[in-house]
Amino acid sequence: MAIRLEPGQRLVVATHNPGKARELAEILEGRFELVSAGELGLAEPDETEATFTGNALLKARAAAEASGLTALADDSGLSVAALGGQPGVYSARWAGPGKDFTLAMGKVETRLEEAGAEDFAAWFTCALAVAWPDGPAVVVEGRIDGTLVFPPRGTKGFGYDQIFQPQRFSETFGELEPAVKDAMSHRAVAFAKLKAALG
Ligand code: IMP
Repeated sequence: MAIRLEPGQRLVVATHNPGKARELAEILEGRFELVSAGELGLAEPDETEATFTGNALLKARAAAEASGLTALADDSGLSVAALGGQPGVYSARWAGPGKDFTLAMGKVETRLEEAGAEDFAAWFTCALAVAWPDGPAVVVEGRIDGTLVFPPRGTKGFGYDQIFQPQRFSETFGELEPAVKDAMSHRAVAFAKLKAALG
């Protein structure tokens, strides 16, 4: 099978996170018939890899195998320079079982205080993987750099958006309009690369 996506083709999106599903749907602009892993009742595999690309591939392969459809998966997170790249692939896990991002953002702030950090540089990474049920897979990675701000600002977005201020902006992702974020985010960068990789 050719390593390319045909317009209108059915694609299973291997995310159970409604915030990310909404962003992926907006970025894909109705080019594909999207069905979510949740809608198909697919199990969510454990994210056992140490890298964003490893986890994205793992999720895409699992969804492709279970559904028999081409699958798109992402793995993303926030990395903080002064914390050696943490929370990184553990970004979702820092929010605990209750998926409480007020807690997770507080944890980032506490860790920075404990480290006596003066450098608040951080970046979001998004790895996107497409896997075909018969084996091949493609993975790419996008990144956006910025600075962390405390206290959190804004009411939009999800996850760590309210403490992340992208370079050259004075607003956080929690304050910017979703369309502005979607045009420059780590996910947008990764999608541009994926498009290029798939021709
Ligand atoms: P995973 O990709 O499902 O492992 O989860 C990644 C986690 O990283 C999400 O639950 C969010 O907390 C965080 N994250 C990823 N992308 C964004 C973003 O665009 N804004 C805010 N937080 C994000």
